[in-house]
Amino acid sequence: MAIVLGLDVGTSGTKAIAMDETGKLLASALVEYPLYSPKPNWAEQEPADWKRAALEALSALAARIDTRDVKALGLTGQMHGSVFLDADNAVIRPALLWCDQRTAAQCADITSKVGEARLLEMVSNPALTGFTAPKILWLRDNEPHHYERVRKVLLPKDYIRWVLTSEYATDVADASGTLLFDVKHRCWHQELLSILGIDPALLPASFEGPEITGTLSKAAAAATGLPEGLPVVAGGGDQAAGGVGCGIVRSGVISSSLGTSGVVFAFADQVSTDPKGRVHTFCHSVPGKWHVMGVMLSAGGSLRWYRDELCAPEKAVGAVSGRDPYEYITEEAARVPIGSEGLLFLPYLTGERTPHKDPDAKGAFIGLSLRHTRAHMARAVLEGVAFGMRDSLEIIREMGVSVSEVRASGGGARSVLWQQILADTGNAPMVTINVDEGPAYGAAILSSVAAGMFSTVEEGCDAIIREVSRRNPDPAAVTAYEPWYQEFKSTYTACAPGFKRVAKLL
Ligand code: XUL
Repeated sequence: MAIVLGLDVGTSGTKAIAMDETGKLLASALVEYPLYSPKPNWAEQEPADWKRAALEALSALAARIDTRDVKALGLTGQMHGSVFLDADNAVIRPALLWCDQRTAAQCADITSKVGEARLLEMVSNPALTGFTAPKILWLRDNEPHHYERVRKVLLPKDYIRWVLTSEYATDVADASGTLLFDVKHRCWHQELLSILGIDPALLPASFEGPEITGTLSKAAAAATGLPEGLPVVAGGGDQAAGGVGCGIVRSGVISSSLGTSGVVFAFADQVSTDPKGRVHTFCHSVPGKWHVMGVMLSAGGSLRWYRDELCAPEKAVGAVSGRDPYEYITEEAARVPIGSEGLLFLPYLTGERTPHKDPDAKGAFIGLSLRHTRAHMARAVLEGVAFGMRDSLEIIREMGVSVSEVRASGGGARSVLWQQILADTGNAPMVTINVDEGPAYGAAILSSVAAGMFSTVEEGCDAIIREVSRRNPDPAAVTAYEPWYQEFKSTYTACAPGFKRVAKLL
């Protein structure tokens, strides 16, 4: 039996999975770590935590499978983060993460130096605070003593690749999220690097998703129990690999993933950019293809915040009954009518990318009255996130992408109520599939192609992924949500200037 592995260096933890050639999950292991926010708007992690977690998760897998059957390991992980290495490959400072919002000044500098339209033309995306290039410039502007020591800048999973193989490499999908990559031609953008004064030697070599970038070193083999020389495959940024893991490898089928962030992800045969830069256009992990996606920064993150800050009773009952507090929260929300009787929730707890590109946006409950209970608040959170996801869907439709079905993934896919709200607000069928292992699974599929188990990524997905359930939009609910969606949009517009003023006060 042939086995392939996928490793996902995520934000809450690192997950390793093993699957066989039929796509059956054989084993998985998750090792968690903290996220640090030393100042408002900052989000950092310690690459040493990722390293420990990756080695532990891979060792746990190795103990549960026959390692002689393992053919390849594919990597994926949170995108956009910056690991700064010095000449001895030592980590210089904690990594700045995808959800870090400190780089507004550097984004403004990049945009004014290059010009908004020219930047979109060069790298297919606008300068956004979460992306990697502004992080490099932030280090240059704010910590010059650190910047002068930098010899390599790696994305989170590529730091782990270096730990495992001693090679500096990345994949085209993750590279797309640096803002330094020529997404059209799938290579680093030399002209932009020179305009920004960033030395190209700081960057790793880039590969297509199913290409082999190196092999497991002797030291990494000893640390994990996996065979020395095991091929390590490029893989992809978590969204592209997650897209592969859901079978988003052809036009028409898109995915909607509710993790901490919320992502609406569509396959693209050609490079296609939103002229307003509201959605990202990145290379896909399918060689020679692209994807567009809208990213909400706090989707599942909004519900988790609501559970942690306002649901002590549900947590207490859950601790006794053994049921997940989210089940109580959604049961309460299900009793409230569409529109939460006039209560709206803006899900911008960590600013927002799609569609607002606004690091200062904030969360809000608007429309509270004496009639409202926590059940209304719970429903308003579910609806507010669904409206935010609809924003992305609308832009993707505007770009001419056909949407015949939406595949649900991430923790939010487990809530029947939330999936129905998404089907009704987005007016598209929500489909669940037979696998729910997220990006790690996509990375394993990419490594199975590298290992010769399938000849293309599409063939691998076709062989492994099937629909298991379908939730159709209810026409009456679609109509009932429409005015609330319009109110949701105008509420942000009305609040946005206030968010800016508050950001200044803070
Ligand atoms: C994608 C993005 C997030 C992170 C976290 O652009 O920022 O999805 O990759 O997982």
